[in-house]
Amino acid sequence: MEKPWSGRFKEETDKFVEEFTQSVSFDKKLAPYDIIQDIAHVKTLTKAGILTKEEEKKLIEELIKIKKEIEEGTFEWKKELEDVHMNIEAELIKRLGDTGRKLHTARSRNDQVATDERLYLKEEIKEIRKLLKELRRVLVKLAEKTVDFIMPSYTHLQRAQPVRVAHYFLAYREIFLKDDERLLDLYRRVDELPLGSGAVAGVDFPLDRFFTAENLGFNRLTRNSVYATAERNFILEFLFISALIGQHLSRLSEDLIIWNTEEFNFVELPDKLCTGSSIMPQKKNPDVLELIRGKTGRLYGNLISLLTVMKALPMAYNRDMQEDKEPLFDSVENLKGMIKGMTLVLEGLRIKEHVMREASGNFLLITDVANYLVEKGVPFRTAHHIAGSIVAYLLEKEKRLEEMTLEEFRSFSEKFDKDIYEMLSPERSADRKKVYGGTSREEVMRQLEVAKREEGL
Ligand code: ARG
Repeated sequence: MEKPWSGRFKEETDKFVEEFTQSVSFDKKLAPYDIIQDIAHVKTLTKAGILTKEEEKKLIEELIKIKKEIEEGTFEWKKELEDVHMNIEAELIKRLGDTGRKLHTARSRNDQVATDERLYLKEEIKEIRKLLKELRRVLVKLAEKTVDFIMPSYTHLQRAQPVRVAHYFLAYREIFLKDDERLLDLYRRVDELPLGSGAVAGVDFPLDRFFTAENLGFNRLTRNSVYATAERNFILEFLFISALIGQHLSRLSEDLIIWNTEEFNFVELPDKLCTGSSIMPQKKNPDVLELIRGKTGRLYGNLISLLTVMKALPMAYNRDMQEDKEPLFDSVENLKGMIKGMTLVLEGLRIKEHVMREASGNFLLITDVANYLVEKGVPFRTAHHIAGSIVAYLLEKEKRLEEMTLEEFRSFSEKFDKDIYEMLSPERSADRKKVYGGTSREEVMRQLEVAKREEGL
């Protein structure tokens, strides 16, 4: 097959090289964007006096036909034509002859591929933001149902202090909200049109790039043609944010996996989202959560992969950069699945509030005992020490904090009085945390109202 560059070459491309260098097997995903871009470019060429109105019409008509064929799966992709860009262009030339040959005027695949990728990523960021919003809404709805449920919070995976279950779900909602802010912020940087930058230096023809940007829905133009064709920071940033979202999802997955164990027994996952074992009849495995956790690995890998591809590349475009696409597509597709999976799991989650409540007493209230003494005038460090000795005592006696008699309390400090028993309730402990951002009922209700308003619920 004749290559666009055949003028300069005496030999045909080696078959191995064709196979090794092709990207069409994966970058055909960009076809819808390539065609939108072609159409916009045609219009700009007409405006610059390079195409006649007649040619413009023919090209756009044919491009729309090709788009349909691609959608229907009847378009024939050829590896010898390397990538999505050359496949579409070659087909136009086949069908329209010289008119088709004019399409690539004042353009290089270097500005073309960057434009496709930005168009693609803009759409996908919008989609991911929608999915994240769904996830946050489910978290808020769960929070709404769990304001009066108390659970142990954990630090070092050791029971720490009682918190409202809603407080926990709102924490994740907060995390995913910041992720959304990151995506929105990135979107502004993706939203720059590279087309018109050519291979590296800009183009010789009077293209109205502002006109192209408007047609393609870009808010800004890249301001330097070398920059426009040489960098992939917008993809790297996306891969980083994906990796970060993956990390957040993996932690939530891990929590739910642990809570779903027989040992914790805090939650039950819906049957329809679990799978069984082919050998152990009793098993109900949390595969969706495990895979969300597991897929986080590839999100990290994709980031490292492209960071490494870009490292020390001489300015400007290098073919190495073709390696940006598979990590990008992989992260986009897997991330979307991971967010959807988590949303489904949370929607079907059954919370066993009695088990959680049961786990929230005893030593989780010992900090409250220390604070009780502080309120009676004992310096905090001394109070902490006394409370610690109570724990040691109870461990030895194999007793619970709630079972201490007043006499026993008094043997540690005479500041203890009957009202100490009022302190020994997880609800009460939570409600003492009235500080802004704390886990008291009042405060959680306030946070919940804010979250509902922010999520439009
Ligand atoms: N398939 C190429 C890529 O993805 C398109 C740009 C090729 N440019 C070039 N000068 N060979 O990067």
